[in-house]
Amino acid sequence: CAPHRKAITGLLTPRNSATQRRRPMKFRRKIYMVGGALTPFIGKMHPDFIWKKHPDFGTRENPTLEETLSAAIQKALADTNVDADAIEKGFIGNFAGELFSNQGHLGAMAVRADEKLNGKPFTRVEGACASGGLAAIGAIDALNAGYDVVMAAGAEVQTTVSAREGAGFLARASHWEEEREIDDFTFPAMFARRAKFYKEKFGVTDEDIAHVTVKAYANANKNPLAHMREVTMTLENASAASDRNPAFLRNPELKEHLKVSDCSQVSNGGAAVILASEDGLKKLGIDPSDCVEILGYAHTTSPLGRVNDYTVLDNTELAAKQLYEETGLRPSDIDVAEVHDCFAVTELLMYEALGFAEPGKGAELARSGATAIDGDIPVNTGGGLIAYGHPVGATGVKQLLEIYRQMKGQCGDYQMPNAPTVGLTANMGGDDRTTVVMALKNV
Ligand code: ACO
Repeated sequence: CAPHRKAITGLLTPRNSATQRRRPMKFRRKIYMVGGALTPFIGKMHPDFIWKKHPDFGTRENPTLEETLSAAIQKALADTNVDADAIEKGFIGNFAGELFSNQGHLGAMAVRADEKLNGKPFTRVEGACASGGLAAIGAIDALNAGYDVVMAAGAEVQTTVSAREGAGFLARASHWEEEREIDDFTFPAMFARRAKFYKEKFGVTDEDIAHVTVKAYANANKNPLAHMREVTMTLENASAASDRNPAFLRNPELKEHLKVSDCSQVSNGGAAVILASEDGLKKLGIDPSDCVEILGYAHTTSPLGRVNDYTVLDNTELAAKQLYEETGLRPSDIDVAEVHDCFAVTELLMYEALGFAEPGKGAELARSGATAIDGDIPVNTGGGLIAYGHPVGATGVKQLLEIYRQMKGQCGDYQMPNAPTVGLTANMGGDDRTTVVMALKNV
């Protein structure tokens, strides 16, 4: 059990100065997730990823951005048994298609997946690593505005260039002029900076942080869709830099605070979900009991390049406060969570921003085992961004689907012992500058 979490009885008091500036989103109708589908998340170290030492190298190529997006959409339609003709509108999350694949205009790309989608209003949305979450809230807003059946999908292909070049592409989600130069690997360095300040302020060790990594890999090893499904990780290997696990930053002040194992993966993958109103479910002939209800969401943005306190995800904390206010839920009501562990320390900061642990106590929560699959508040049951993988535009959509799959008992070897009733997702863009949090309930 997790004493730290149970101790939190009140709503959070976020430190973000924008606290009172907006009301939480009020839903006008009940909104349901009918289901959806994921492609496998693949990249370096995945057995199906084509690289120069793969036996199929030269005869087969990795799926393109279009193939990845289409596969997710087609599988979502097939798995939910929804005819594409019933989809009234769609939102596609993607961060950097132009850079990695020379491809933008993904709304029009998505409708190539099924000829019955031709002519339907599909739009690409972008908010860095929160693009998938933004696609989902685009769909929810459309349902609240009167549409009845809407698709949210996301896809990213990131292995078309080296990790170093890709880091420059991903750095477009920072304030380019002010933050790009922190390191060639801009985002790893920005979160190494958070790790440095967090460790110094709270006396947290690299081994404490490594518990997040070990949990992520252990979960992914049971998940056939995970990027790192065949890579094992021990606490010893995750706790210290080594030849196999280098501290790869060049920034001399930050280098010691981040190793390869602390990082999310450079993955290719897609995810798609179908959301519907009650009227939409009737049209589809689907019973609400086969669905998951979306209880509410909150979406916050904070100015690029201006982080007040590196030990706090205050933009996410603000979103969590709004979500809890809107839904009446408290942190102790959450049975399962998918949080944005773009780096291992980020998961600890997420526990604190979402109210699962008090400030500085995230590492204790991880160490206690409470966030493991059989713990009090399982987090990232399929392996998270660190080991399930992080195809940026797909991640926010994948998080929703993972909660759905846990609720409906579809997670196979990584199924929670008791299917959860209430779940939460937290999808973050940049250095905590855009956040989408959502609450879901099994019905
Ligand atoms: N010893 C010393 N240095 C090494 C070693 C070693 N044994 N191996 C690698 N390195 C260094 C090298 O400098 C190398 O770069 P170079 O080859 O260009 O010189 C660098 O580490 C990276 O090594 P790669 O082998 O290219 O790395 P890999 O492909 O395994 O990727 C990495 C690992 C860099 C951690 C990658 O997974 C990554 O960038 N992850 C983070 C992705 C990211 O930032 N996503 C966005 C998150 S932000 C958000 O979500 C809000």
